[in-house]
Amino acid sequence: MSLRLGLVPTMVVSSPEYAELFLKTHDTVFASRPKLQVVQCIWYGQKGMIFAPYGSFWRNICKLCTIELLSSSKIETFKSIRVEELLNFVKSIKSASESQCIIDVSGKVESLLEDMTFRMIFGFKDDRFHNLKSSIQEAGELVGALNVADCIPCLRAFDLQGLGRRMKACNKILDGILETIIDEHVRDAKELQGQHRDFIDVMLSLLASDNTREIHLDRENMKAIVLDMNAAAMETTSTAIEWVITELLKHPRVMKLVQEELESIVGLDRMVEETDLIKLSYLKMVIMETMRLHPVVPFLLPHESTEDITINGYFMPKNPELL
Ligand code: HEM
Repeated sequence: MSLRLGLVPTMVVSSPEYAELFLKTHDTVFASRPKLQVVQCIWYGQKGMIFAPYGSFWRNICKLCTIELLSSSKIETFKSIRVEELLNFVKSIKSASESQCIIDVSGKVESLLEDMTFRMIFGFKDDRFHNLKSSIQEAGELVGALNVADCIPCLRAFDLQGLGRRMKACNKILDGILETIIDEHVRDAKELQGQHRDFIDVMLSLLASDNTREIHLDRENMKAIVLDMNAAAMETTSTAIEWVITELLKHPRVMKLVQEELESIVGLDRMVEETDLIKLSYLKMVIMETMRLHPVVPFLLPHESTEDITINGYFMPKNPELL
């Protein structure tokens, strides 16, 4: 289906067959992102990975992030943080249940994910900057908002929904915090003698060595990538976990099967470890089915085509957005 959201031609892709055609078969044509106001205001104008336009910069930054930040060996270096935070989480649930307190499971899962993510990226939990978490949440909300100024750009100056003001305020706070965190890491870098504590340290060493690379990174790229990782990792994962728990509570038969699988593969004497996950095939099916029923990012992030294309006999001129 073809729509026009204000002045923006938009293709609605609503079946698995067409999703495969647009996002797999012809993915390079639709891999770009539109220049949204929120990206210009908060994400340093497409200087990160998620909102970068398709091209050599995007390819190189994806390669760099995959190798230097998201490879299994890098993820492994943060394992102790994940284990420690998970243990604290289980202990706090256990003590709350022993004293028969009501537990806000959603709140606990969100805090767990925030603490893990902040420690891996910044090297500390949120308590140091009371408005860091709320500002990242605000940035996420602003990305998800339907912004009239993106649909009819000539109305941007009027800021009819007040989103522009919120974006500027959010950017001011986030930028200030990120600058402070990066400055602190630069100051402490000498003591580290090449040892990486967190994502910021890895990014700083990339910045220092990037004249030997295919792309030149600056401080704004670094801040945009750090925002990418925070926004992409936290709410998506915690929302997916909350839906899995909700579905299990609604389906006691399935809950029992998950418990039986855990009992037979892990046993009752120790915690589940990351290496167990590959053997927990029923649990994996439950997670996949839950994500099918409740997609965490139902409309994906916006995609934009970069050339004219004909798909299944339908001609589409360059630039429509994908929904
Ligand atoms: C259950 C958890 C998650 C879900 C449901 C999820 C979902 C998504 C979706 C739907 C997209 C958009 C894909 C597209 O544009 O076609 C995306 C992109 C992305 N996600 Fe996730 N995500 C999750 C966890 C994570 C985590 C933990 C990270 C780690 C940092 C991450 C990093 C990214 C990045 C970097 C992109 C942009 C990729 C690109 O533009 O090429 N995500 N994710």
